[in-house]
Amino acid sequence: MASALPPDWSDRLRLDRAHVWHPFTQMKEHEADPPVPVVGGEGCDLILGDGRRVLDGISSWWTNLHGHGHPRLLGALERQAAKLDHVLFAGFTHEPAVELVTRLKAKLPARLTRCFFSDDGSTSVEVALKMAFQAQAQKSQTRRTRFGALHGGYHGDTLGAVGVGELDNFMTGIFRPLLLRCDRLAVPEDPRRELAPDLAGWEGVLSSARENLRVFFARHGEELAAFIAEPLLQGAAGMRMWPPELLQELRAQCDAHGVYLILDEVMTGFGRTGTLFAHSQAGVEPDLLCLSKGLTGGILPLSLTWATEEIYSRFWGDYTEGKAFLHGHSFTANPMSCAVACASMALFDDEPVLARAAELGQALREAWGRLAQHPAVRQARQLGTVAACRIVDPGTGQPHLPEARFPWRFHRLALDHGLLVRPIGDCLYLLPPLNTPPGRIREAVTTLAELLNGGW
Ligand SMILES: Cc1ncc(COP(=O)(O)O)c(C=O)c1O
Repeated sequence: MASALPPDWSDRLRLDRAHVWHPFTQMKEHEADPPVPVVGGEGCDLILGDGRRVLDGISSWWTNLHGHGHPRLLGALERQAAKLDHVLFAGFTHEPAVELVTRLKAKLPARLTRCFFSDDGSTSVEVALKMAFQAQAQKSQTRRTRFGALHGGYHGDTLGAVGVGELDNFMTGIFRPLLLRCDRLAVPEDPRRELAPDLAGWEGVLSSARENLRVFFARHGEELAAFIAEPLLQGAAGMRMWPPELLQELRAQCDAHGVYLILDEVMTGFGRTGTLFAHSQAGVEPDLLCLSKGLTGGILPLSLTWATEEIYSRFWGDYTEGKAFLHGHSFTANPMSCAVACASMALFDDEPVLARAAELGQALREAWGRLAQHPAVRQARQLGTVAACRIVDPGTGQPHLPEARFPWRFHRLALDHGLLVRPIGDCLYLLPPLNTPPGRIREAVTTLAELLNGGW
């Protein structure tokens, strides 16, 4: 339960209210309900300003892999900071960048041979979109001025990324006149991920979705530079889990129509879905791959866009041909971020990170199976270390009305009970750090069930 903040925090909160503009926030709500001070992080817990510990049930926006304050990541950061903090990456290179590329190259499909650095998930997507467009143009495919994307997709908040994200919501609709031209394809959710699946009619749904995909490419395929998708799991859409067979069909159609396939593994990468990368579960290899969030173990900003040799070759030539990829950011390949990312990758090699994630996934599955019995819970599902469900009003069986502010109020209520969750619409989910002890997950799910009993 909430306790009092130390006195210095009331002054900080006054200054925060006076000057800080928080992300994804209607700031008016902070008038009555100010942001929660966080003063520490230890393992899978965050420590709040009033001394409470809360389980980081969403890995601090899907970033944290190995827990907060991991000594190997912090050690790598300290050592690198003492050697070289930052240097521009145009015309220069450094050890941690080369080591990171070498470490990751060994874990990626062999066809991904070239790696471009940027700072966050959105910029890794911008880079992929620009690379795809420019590569097509430089092989005389100048009609390819559009992109394909999945309905419900989320690829970040810069204008290019917003252009290929879902447009039918209040966050992005207003920017419509400014955005890339994009054609969207709907794919069904995969009932086989549900804990109590109803597979009646599923084969028919899958084969008509496959047919839709072919029709989509027959209609748009010649105008698309690339198609972008979050493989198997659309996070911001409300943890929508979609079938690997359709990812395979997407690959086949991209090949048949000369369209590059961009896989955005910003969220699904680094073990979240049970394998190091989600695309391997479908046996599908992209032309461009976006990585961020867990790349540094989730503790520093960094992102990568990997490309095939074919794409890279389209930019190769004499300077005067004007074919280079003229894109970059001030902090491209920051050495400290790269060193921490190397330490995170080394953890995957030296410790049973994926085996622990599998144990966590199993504990999550068992606990979520119990939550699935709750009258407010529908469509309980799981993929790797991500478990999700829909929350309804048990009286009516319908989602809560938007005015009830279920996501915000439930988030605040859970914090008061030692758990950080942040529902997306009617989707309640857990996505904890990969090394969260299974016992903590069982406790967290018990807490969720109790809070749902309390009136939600
Ligand atoms: C799949 C996906 N792509 C891109 C992004 C954008 O990443 P960032 O917030 O680091 O810009 C996100 C963020 O949640 C994401 O989930």
